[in-house]
Amino acid sequence: MSSLINKHVLLGVSGGIAAYKSAELIRRLKDLGADVRVVMTSAAQEFITPLTLQALSGNPVYTELLDPEAEAGMGHIELARWADIFFIAPCTADLIARLALGQGNDLLTTIALACQAPLALAPAMNQAMWSHAATQDNLALLINRGAKVFGPDSGSQACGDTGFGRMSEPAVLATQLSECFSSGLLSGLNVVITAGPTREAIDPVRYISNHSSGKMGYALAQACAEAGARTRLISGPTQLSCPANVERIDVTSAQEMLDAALACKADIFIGAAAVADYRPETIAEQKIKKQGADTGTTTLTLVQNPDIIATIASDINKPFVVGFAAETENVVSYARSKLIKKRLDLVIANDVSRQDIGFNSDDNAVTLISATGEEYLEPRSKYQLALELVRRIAIAYR
Ligand code: CTP
Repeated sequence: MSSLINKHVLLGVSGGIAAYKSAELIRRLKDLGADVRVVMTSAAQEFITPLTLQALSGNPVYTELLDPEAEAGMGHIELARWADIFFIAPCTADLIARLALGQGNDLLTTIALACQAPLALAPAMNQAMWSHAATQDNLALLINRGAKVFGPDSGSQACGDTGFGRMSEPAVLATQLSECFSSGLLSGLNVVITAGPTREAIDPVRYISNHSSGKMGYALAQACAEAGARTRLISGPTQLSCPANVERIDVTSAQEMLDAALACKADIFIGAAAVADYRPETIAEQKIKKQGADTGTTTLTLVQNPDIIATIASDINKPFVVGFAAETENVVSYARSKLIKKRLDLVIANDVSRQDIGFNSDDNAVTLISATGEEYLEPRSKYQLALELVRRIAIAYR
């Protein structure tokens, strides 16, 4: 089942008669779960109004490059960063030419230059314009740079001609777009991921835990499933829904997480969970009553939890093991010592002292550490970071 759940689709609409199909396209993209934002050229607005596309997408529509109000909200660079994919449908012959040249003479082309996400195009034009050598050469250049091209279809055209140049049907385009996210990098592999916090019970109503949201582990699970792996997500308590094609195993405590991890066969094991290092020595059967009326203090005896990732990595047939290191100081050196001590293949180091990234935030920046080197990955959404990490994990595993 194709899905665009959690995907940010930036839809570019240029000025051709097929622009009327953009309304339907937005609905089909949203049906597959996408969050859609729309950028229109000025010619596109002659064919369909921004208001229509705003109502259907549920987001403001962007039309002007030099608009202080729009730039004060989500400016062109932020829009480019927001996108998981930039999809231009319909894409006219003129726009194909401007993209091939690398022009930045309106909002849409400027975003295309600034956007590092994949580019997909659905051409739509008269059949003679489509078969013109200039259009075909420009398109070949864009394909060579990595652009995906969907369609066009053949049939009768608005101008009365018959031939190739009709924009493909919106439902077909939405499915083709969702398939762009299936890389096949991990196909045939078993990936097991731990995520979220653990809860260590004190008594029937209280527990020790931490602020982990689980977002990074869930984003990695989504990216692994999209890369073709059989993906099992061993999750502590979170508010998140399970990504498509991921098998979630719900656990509460560190011990339950370890038991679940040992029961899963893995080629690649990723420990993204914020496991509580300690648990109460005993769990009181009844709610503990207030104590220490004289001193105002009470004492809880804690014992160490098993180290899940180190246990997995100590197996003689150990999988490829990727750990996280949540640090507030000496990030790289502490993370490197975890790589060695826990016998990990890769460590993803997180500076959790930064307010803008990490725990509970939607964005993250990490340093990826291996036995031979380290690399800083700039801040971006946890999903975009997960895609990048999965690419590197796949290369290191192979
Ligand atoms: N981890 C684990 N089991 C534990 C503790 C940690 O599997 N009991 C894993 C985490 O999922 C992460 C890595 O070990 O992949 C490092 O976790 P972190 O909390 O950064 O380090 P700790 O080993 O707990 O060390 P410290 O708290 O002293 O920094």
